[in-house]
Amino acid sequence: SVSTIKFNNGREIPALGLGTWQSKPEEVTSAVAYALKEAGYRHIDCAWGYGNEKDVGAGIRASGVPRSDIFITSKVWGTWHSRVEQCLDQTLANLGTDYLDLYLMHWPIPLNPNGNHPLIPTLPDGKRDIDHSWKISDTWKQMEALVKKGKVRSIGVSNFSQAKLEEILPTAEILPVVDQLELHVYNPQHNLIAYLKSKGIVPQAYSPLGSAGSPLLTDDKVIDIAKKHSINPADVLIAYPLVKGYVVLPKSVTPSRIASNLTGPVSAAAKLDKDDIAVLDGLAASGKQKRFVTPPWPVELGFEHWPPL
Ligand code: A2P
Repeated sequence: SVSTIKFNNGREIPALGLGTWQSKPEEVTSAVAYALKEAGYRHIDCAWGYGNEKDVGAGIRASGVPRSDIFITSKVWGTWHSRVEQCLDQTLANLGTDYLDLYLMHWPIPLNPNGNHPLIPTLPDGKRDIDHSWKISDTWKQMEALVKKGKVRSIGVSNFSQAKLEEILPTAEILPVVDQLELHVYNPQHNLIAYLKSKGIVPQAYSPLGSAGSPLLTDDKVIDIAKKHSINPADVLIAYPLVKGYVVLPKSVTPSRIASNLTGPVSAAAKLDKDDIAVLDGLAASGKQKRFVTPPWPVELGFEHWPPL
């Protein structure tokens, strides 16, 4: 079964959860219900910005698994940084619950709340409509208030570089428990991980398979390791963050993959040896460094440290 990882606030999170980014609304309800009811998942990762939270909520309810047995994460979207509780209230209604286990700042990028688009507002010149007057340390203050109110149990960040964390930490009363990042063997972010460890912040790995259509599953070295242990390449890729002590969030809407993405990596994590991990740790440095998820804002607009150091 899936182990748990302890946060810096003493709470625990199941080390493996179901990702729901890019899961189509018409597919995600049955995927979530299957994951919880049949496959044994107890951790679902979602976001207001994914546009499918109502359908995720329907899946959670359809599963029949008690709310208290499930760890649910969601994220506040950029257009809501100055109105975090309003975004959370929509999420809670979408999911049909009265609390979240974990609430994240989805990106360190406040977007114009009165812009021309509810998700990604743009300026007339086509650039992203970033709200440069808003401080993410104030977004964090609003998130802290939600912990105090009991609406969320833990708070964290996502897509934060060290520089962005340093914008919120000096005035933070509550330390982020996680930083959810694109983390996989082609984008291991070793320096950022070392910084997170020094702060007691747990890394969460999204897109552990490199997202749809990635070359990770057919990487020679990944395949060698899979063959050596008679396991699937996907198991190697999902087990890697588990071995490193990260939370991992593989996304699938396919029942057979949902099931195998839980059972395979848990046993694979016990099989991977030091040599395997050293090979996987070194893949990016061997010239394969690659990020598959392109942020919806250009590097120069508020993202001086993209990709994170
Ligand atoms: P699908 O959802 O159609 O099953 P990531 O978690 O890195 O973002 O990757 C998600 C992508 O990988 C999705 O396209 C998903 O497809 C696919 N995928 C998920 N699990 C597996 C698996 N075990 N083997 C191959 N592809 C997978």
